[in-house]
Amino acid sequence: MISRNTIDKVFETARVEEVIGDYVQLKKSGSNFKGLSPFTDERTPSFMVSPVKQIWKDFSSGKGGNAVAFLMEHEHFTYPEAIRYLAKKYQIEIEETEQSSEEKEQASERESMMLVAEFAQKFYEDVLWNTESGKAIGLSYFKERGFSQQTIRHFGLGYNPDQWDAFTVAALDKGYGLEYLEKTGLTIVKPATAEGMKEKRFDRFKGRVLFPIHAMSGRVLGFGGRTLSSDKKQAKYLNSPESEIYHKSKVLYGIYQAKQAIAREDICYLVEGYTDVIQLHQSGIENVVASSGTALTPEQIRLIRRLTQNIVVLFDGDEAGLRASLRGVDLILEEGMNVRVCSFPQGEDPDSFARKHSQEAIQEYLVEQAQDFIQFKTTLLTKEAANDPIRKAETIREIVGSIARIPDRIKREIYVQECASLLGISEGVLFSTLAQMGKKQAQDLRTKNAPTPMEVVPVQPEEARVDLQYELERKIIELLLLYGMESQVFEDLVLKETEDGKLALEPEVSEVRVFEKVYLDLQDDEIELTHGNFRKIYYALIQKLNGEGEFQIQELMNDPDQELVSEISSILMEEEKYQLHEWQRKDIYPKPKKNSIAQLVSETILSLRCYLIKKRIEALQQKTEGAPSEDHTEVLEEIVNYLQLNKLLNTKLNRVLS
Ligand code: CTP
Ligand code: MN
Repeated sequence: MISRNTIDKVFETARVEEVIGDYVQLKKSGSNFKGLSPFTDERTPSFMVSPVKQIWKDFSSGKGGNAVAFLMEHEHFTYPEAIRYLAKKYQIEIEETEQSSEEKEQASERESMMLVAEFAQKFYEDVLWNTESGKAIGLSYFKERGFSQQTIRHFGLGYNPDQWDAFTVAALDKGYGLEYLEKTGLTIVKPATAEGMKEKRFDRFKGRVLFPIHAMSGRVLGFGGRTLSSDKKQAKYLNSPESEIYHKSKVLYGIYQAKQAIAREDICYLVEGYTDVIQLHQSGIENVVASSGTALTPEQIRLIRRLTQNIVVLFDGDEAGLRASLRGVDLILEEGMNVRVCSFPQGEDPDSFARKHSQEAIQEYLVEQAQDFIQFKTTLLTKEAANDPIRKAETIREIVGSIARIPDRIKREIYVQECASLLGISEGVLFSTLAQMGKKQAQDLRTKNAPTPMEVVPVQPEEARVDLQYELERKIIELLLLYGMESQVFEDLVLKETEDGKLALEPEVSEVRVFEKVYLDLQDDEIELTHGNFRKIYYALIQKLNGEGEFQIQELMNDPDQELVSEISSILMEEEKYQLHEWQRKDIYPKPKKNSIAQLVSETILSLRCYLIKKRIEALQQKTEGAPSEDHTEVLEEIVNYLQLNKLLNTKLNRVLS
């Protein structure tokens, strides 16, 4: 783990405008910078960076945060990856926290293997471009395949000379340990067979062209090597073996080159192999990855899910095992993603198809031919089972089996309706099959200790769009962030005994700090903020303020919880929004004047209290409905109490507002 010390140093040093400046062209605008959003396709800038607050906000997508959040959003780095990237950019030495010696060894072993893989990639690439055999054999092969120079460079393709140990010798020469050459599988070591003989070392990829396989972060993990010989005994493709750094079930070929396009287009094409990815990419379809020879795994699907919810699986035209591949697609459904499939004409794969057609034609084909997966499967299977009632029953079970994997209940129901009409049977039959399957699958899954698809609570589409409670809680956080430390004069109504012995509401004035007012008032009704992020920020702020009497926004921004950081920066950047366009002058959206801060605070707290009490009253009223009336007494008493409180709060609120 990276030490807290290093993380702090990174945060102290990194300048958000410099980090973002590497990716987005920024122009000075007042005290801020603005630019075109890198997350959407836009012509007028709605992306803002504040060097003072060290945060950014993208008003077109709603995203925002600090430098780390930007890298996580834009480069799809994990938090540690982002920290490491920044440490490298600012030449900060990374200090690891105390690890057990075993952990240390493992970490340094992985790192050594990564360095070997990185060296290998550079070596193969160098051979391809700068040696006679590389140019004559490797490079000309790629060119024959229709890859442009730019494409070949973009994917870092290479060539291993057709000699027994050209790579191994070069690597050892550079000081890389044989141990790691062997562990990455790039060198094969054969022990000596007889006394006095030396062990033998061979290049695994001798005479092959190479496709480096990158992690999402861009580091080289392994290779796919294609033979150039027509010798049928040689495997056409040879891959790096499983190792500490290369797990074939966890990598997707092309993800590094595709990640931005996938996020931007909000859709990912999944193909079979290296050449399909490269050819499509060269044709302008950049959001494409391959599972490279293995059946798709949940880990691979989750890599894509970090970028988009939408997958289109492209099948070869002559796919013999189409039915088998369909089963793999069920896994994608299980991850809750939207899946469509697209098959190519007989005898074509995406690679050959892309070579023959223009970008427009390919895009048109993909749009027109991509079919919803469930529909595709239904049509395919019904065609196969036509006129065979037994096959038809099987088919129905198989299709319902796919539907049952979809975690979202509403989606499942829509599919049942559609399939019923496609299959020409009643929805009722499908639903009861679904229910049976659901139980069985739930059991299967429970034994695997995974969440069951049937138990997932459906989303509530009818949820109100404007959530008053959300807005009020957010306002409270905003007030605390902006004015929490300021002293203000608050006027409150308190019950007092008048001269003639009656109770009446009388104004009382007190000067307290904003955070104290908020804290004490909310405590009065035992109000808890309901939105997780707000609650977290609230307690962090209150704790700081109660303890030290002040806080630094920067401290909050360094929280590893990026959702939280994004929430804070979006609150803080709200007012900057209006600087984006000249016509939205600041005076149209006036900031509260100093003397109205107290009013704003009181108004917000009282509104939230009123709102919550109204909700409590409603809940109590519902309790009385349907219950026999003699049970009502206690509840009614409670309701009356709340109504009184509500009235009191409303009086106060009206006074504040007038
Ligand atoms: N593939 C593989 N292992 C194999 C065969 C194929 O991993 N033994 C993958 C590769 O990623 C390849 C893709 O499937 O890019 C397409 O297969 P294929 O068309 O057979 O490979 P090509 O290199 O395109 O061969 P050809 O030139 O004969 O089309
Ligand atoms: Mn091919």
